[in-house]
Amino acid sequence: MRAVVCTSFAPLDQLVIEERPSAPLAAGQVRVRVTAAGVNFVDALLVQGLYQIKPPLPFVPGGETVGIVTELGEGVTSHSLGDRVLITSGFGGFATEMVSAASRAVIVPSSLTDGQAATFMQSYMTAYFALVHRAKMQPGQWLLVLGAGGGVGLAAVDVGRALGLKVIAAASSAAKREMAQSRGAVAVIDSSIEDVKARAKEISGDGVDAVYDPIGGKLGEECLRSLREDGQFIVIGFASGDIPKLPANQVLLRNRRVTGVDWGAWVGRNPAENQALVLQVLAKIAAGELNPVEPVSYPFEQAAQALADQQQRNVVGKAVLIP
Ligand SMILES: NC(=O)c1ccc[n+]([C@@H]2O[C@H](COP(=O)([O-])OP(=O)(O)OC[C@H]3O[C@@H](n4cnc5c(N)ncnc54)[C@H](OP(=O)(O)O)[C@@H]3O)[C@@H](O)[C@H]2O)c1
Repeated sequence: MRAVVCTSFAPLDQLVIEERPSAPLAAGQVRVRVTAAGVNFVDALLVQGLYQIKPPLPFVPGGETVGIVTELGEGVTSHSLGDRVLITSGFGGFATEMVSAASRAVIVPSSLTDGQAATFMQSYMTAYFALVHRAKMQPGQWLLVLGAGGGVGLAAVDVGRALGLKVIAAASSAAKREMAQSRGAVAVIDSSIEDVKARAKEISGDGVDAVYDPIGGKLGEECLRSLREDGQFIVIGFASGDIPKLPANQVLLRNRRVTGVDWGAWVGRNPAENQALVLQVLAKIAAGELNPVEPVSYPFEQAAQALADQQQRNVVGKAVLIP
């Protein structure tokens, strides 16, 4: 099999494609022929050694993978040969083949393409966990989504619309804003030239009920001021590379709240609760209430380019590698 391999924490162009022997298949595992591997912001950080988790070297990046089951380990009765499955693994997905515990291989709903299936789990579960489980948003509330043309941002637009929220989408390019509108944003703000805080207050009347922030930095800090009484600032991530220092006086004013979101770590501690949320998201996708975007495709050989495009804000929606 072939795999994209990170041999040292280094710039993206140092990734290599290697021929590797197939991994042995243990009891309870399935072997999968990969058909699509989702590209996430965190993958680019991981291979450069810029993430809080540093996998032992060498490693194969890629945490969201879709493929066809080609072999069943001893004792596996939950799956059949030919099943199309999604594996959320952390690493190992940028390969033509991977091995996984059968319990971690989720059957993909037939309504999703391989690309959609390989790119929705992290983004949609982060958005759903944030808006439903953490922030407990209610229909009719105003939600300002920053980075609304990116992975977790666009998912929040879609989830927000499905929850009956009035979503304002802020993004830096026309293509990203159009994409957010296609997922149900009622208003858009050009974050490259407009005053996002002032525009969000203007559009919502008295300020928004929640700001969903995957970007951080100065923009996030400013947008705290766009919250109305009892509004929540939802901390998702720091794609700008800059962790905002939220002024406590602005939290005190209007009885605002700051809501942290760490979906990945929460899953590790609450697998059963997460499974219930995943089933809710899958049911909404099957019912057509949620519509994950069709990602931009890159051939396997362009893994480094896909990761670079992601890091340089060039990806609208999501990106996927096709082996
Ligand atoms: N809390 C959690 O559980 C959780 C889960 C998943 C991901 N995350 C985090 O969420 C963040 C966003 O992830 P994502 O998958 O949405 O990434 P993405 O698809 O690359 O989108 C990030 C967006 O951030 C904006 N951005 C602003 N400044 C940027 C910069 N200097 N570099 C890159 N992007 C910049 C861009 O939007 P504009 O061009 O419109 O400004 C871009 O579209 C990451 O920090 C990730 O680690 C958190």
